[in-house]
Formats: sequence, structure tokens, C-alpha cells
Amino acid sequence: MFGVIDPGSASGIATNQVLHSEWAMPSSLKPGKETLRTQVGIIGGGPSGLLLSQILHRVGIETVVLERRSRAYVLGRIRAGVLEQGMVDLLQEAGVSGGMDRNGDPHEGIRIAYDGRRHRIDLKGLTGKTVMLYGQTELTRDLYEARDAMGGVILHEVENVAIHGISDDTPALTWCAGGESYRLECEFIIGCDGFHGVSRRSIPPEGLREYERVYPFGWLGVLSRTRPVNDELIYANHPRGFALCSMRSPALSRYYVQCSLDDRVKDWPDERFWGELKARLPEEVAARLETGPSIEKSIAPLRSFVVEPLRHGRLFLAGDAAHIVPPTGAKGLNLAASDIRYLSSALIAYYRHGSDAGLERYSEQALARVWKAERFSWWMTGLLHRFPETGEFGDRMQRAELDYLFSSTAAMTSLAENYVGLPY
Ligand code: FAD
Ligand code: PHB
Repeated sequence: MFGVIDPGSASGIATNQVLHSEWAMPSSLKPGKETLRTQVGIIGGGPSGLLLSQILHRVGIETVVLERRSRAYVLGRIRAGVLEQGMVDLLQEAGVSGGMDRNGDPHEGIRIAYDGRRHRIDLKGLTGKTVMLYGQTELTRDLYEARDAMGGVILHEVENVAIHGISDDTPALTWCAGGESYRLECEFIIGCDGFHGVSRRSIPPEGLREYERVYPFGWLGVLSRTRPVNDELIYANHPRGFALCSMRSPALSRYYVQCSLDDRVKDWPDERFWGELKARLPEEVAARLETGPSIEKSIAPLRSFVVEPLRHGRLFLAGDAAHIVPPTGAKGLNLAASDIRYLSSALIAYYRHGSDAGLERYSEQALARVWKAERFSWWMTGLLHRFPETGEFGDRMQRAELDYLFSSTAAMTSLAENYVGLPY
């Protein structure tokens, strides 16, 4: 149980009136002297933090978002592309689906390439559901625009964010910006600051348990202004390593190849990347691959990670701050969305009805879904990548698993059900 805060009353200063600027504190504030207050302090201006702030603000709950990077930097990151129906619904409810409704591309199936052939997993036929292709970059831009339109408070380029008082019901955030120090008193603090953020690390080690698997390879991703090679995503298992053909629009492609953890982006000039991608695709696909200069190229290590529980006193963790999946199952952003769905409902119930039952249940409820997505992402990763350490036996196990998958409607349905997303 939490200590007493009247959930009906806004807490002191309406921060929206004093903190309007995206970039800086208004000069009327005296850093370090005037106490700022809000209801929910959110660390991290990625998809989790922005979506939570949007949902809460729409029902009148005040939030302040603290983001370490500039807006341009956040929008320069190319990441997820596949949204589950549950996330699509949540974005529509949150009033941030305009861009996705106009430009998103519903997909009814995916392909798995293996042994020179492509097998289709009919997502729609097997589950009745589809997934939406819409880039995280575009979604984040939509969220920023929606927050701006509502006068949401997002402070960028804040440094040294620190969390205080989460165990004794006096939660507060401090940070530095422009050489000045600030303090924000909150009723709750939500850590949406990704895997490398400060939130999880602020919990005493005895207050949490971590589970981790680090994979012995990474993904090299390339964005190019070329026509996608296929109308559906292709996941390829090849002796040279995994490859993925995805897209962002009819003129923008996103491709990935499994690479070594020692590789650096400079080791992969465009010609090498295209050559390697072609070598890992079935011949008829490689023959029609359109190549061109990369407009973004990055390497991501692959990791499975979960922390339990997702709450310590008045601090709650959501999204990548709490769990990481390897991107093979396209689940990371979608898990962030389901966390935010549970957490926003719990906070709304608290502020509307004074009920903390949802907050008490949040960790268990969110983790139940997280672990299932962890299992699926781990399984897809094992099915499709080359694992240096498993040898020929591992290769034969993969072959048996893939042969079984393509011969069994039950197995394909299981893949499809998880890929389109388990219910919230
Ligand atoms: P983040 O996006 O990491 O945002 C956290 C924010 O917090 C960042 O902006 C960061 O700058 C900020 N921050 C960090 N520390 C601090 C601090 N101390 N103070 C203030 N701010 C801080 N997921 C899918 O669902 N589908 C996909 O197809 C998919 N593909 C992917 C492909 C790749 C190559 C990668 C790398 C990931 C992919 N993901 C995918 C995962 C998805 O991108 C993440 O799960 C998602 O970004 C999580 O959102 P988040 O807001 O929780 O965290
Ligand atoms: C992407 O389009 O970036 C993407 C698609 C599917 C994945 C991972 C990433 O599994």
C-alpha cells in the first residue's frame, strides 16, 4: 500500500503552466530554489514515456517527461517496424494514430526462407489478425507532435537525472540542464528510460532480480531509399547467418544481417552489406533485390533480459528499462505498449477512484505477458540464427524444427499467434 496522497487533487503548481519549453526552463524559474511539482514524473522520452504521458494527460493527470537526448537525436534512431493489433488499438485510443492510419501498411503474412525456398506463414488465415508495418521513428514523431499540441511538458537534454524518496513516499527527481540544477516533486516516478537508463539502477540490488541471456552475435541494419524486395517480410535462415527483409514504405527498405559482435559499422561498406544480404536470400529474391546507398546503418547486439519486479515503492519500470528481447520476434516496442496499457489504467484508477489495486497488480500482470514474449523471441532467434557454439547437432535440430514448422498447421498457428501478439 502507498502512503496517503489525495488522488483527487492536483499536486500544487500546475507544471504545465510553468514549464512549456521543450528545450529549457523558463528564465522566471530559479533553479534549485523553486520547488516544481507534478503528479507523474516520467524518465525517458522514447515511445514508452511519450505514450504514457499522452494517455495520462488526456484524462487530466499531469506529467513531466525528462529526456537525456535532443529531440533530433531521438528521432534519428531507426528501430522497430512491426506493430501488433493491440498496440494499434492503444494508439488509436490515445489519439495518436493519424500518421499510422494514413501511412501504416497492414500485413497478412510473413515469409521464412530456408534451403533456398520461401514458406509463408499466413498470419491472417491462421489467427484472423494482421500486423501493422509502421516505423518507430514515425510513431515517435507522431507522439511528439501530439504532446506539443496538448502543451505536454518534455524537457530534453537533461543531465544527471537522479531519483529520490521512492521508498518513503516522497518521490522526487533532480537533474541538471544548462549548468543549473532542478528538483521536481512527484507522486509517482515512471522509469521509461530504456536498458541503459538510470531508473532500474536506482533500485537497491536486494529489491530486484535480473535474468539475462546475451547472444553471441548482433544485427547490422541498413535503411535505404530502394523499393522493398518483397511485399511481405522475409526472415531467412542461411548457413552464412540470419537475414531479414523489412520495409518502411513503398520506397524505403529496412534490411538486417546477423553479424559478429566484433564488427563495427565501418567494417560494412554498402557493397559488402548488399553482397552479404544477397548471398543469404533465395536466388529468385536476391535477383530482384534493388540496392542503393544506405541512409542509416547501425549494429545492435542481441539480448534477452527481464528484471523482477517492475516496481519499487513509488517507482515503476516500463518498456526497455525493464526487459529486452532480441528483435527477431518484433516484440520490444509492443511489450512497451502493453506495459503502458496496464500502467496507465492502474494510474487512472488510482487518480479517479483512489484505488491502488491496479498499481499493486501491475508488475505481475505485465510480467506475465513479458515472459511469454521473451520465450517467443528467444525461440525465433534460436530457429533462425547461426550459433557458433552449437555445431552440426544444433544445425540438425534447427532443420528438424523448421521441417516440423512447415509441415504442421498447429506449429504455424503457434508462431502466428505469438507474432500477431498475445492478448493484453
Ligand atoms: P527507448 O526507445 O530506449 O527510450 C528510452 C529513452 O530514455 C531514450 O530516448 C533515452 O535517450 C532516454 N534515457 C535513457 N537514459 C536516460 C536518463 N538517464 N535520463 C533521461 N532520459 C534517459 N520492437 C518491436 O516491437 N518491433 C520491432 O520490429 C522491433 N525492431 C527492432 C529493431 C532493432 C534493430 C532494435 C534495436 C530494436 C527493435 N525493437 C523492436 C525494440 C524497440 O525499438 C524497443 O523495445 C523500444 O524502443 C522500447 O521503447 P522505450 O521507450 O521503452 O525505450
Ligand atoms: C524492422 O522493420 O525494423 C523489423 C521488422 C521485424 C523484426 C525486427 C525489425 O522482427
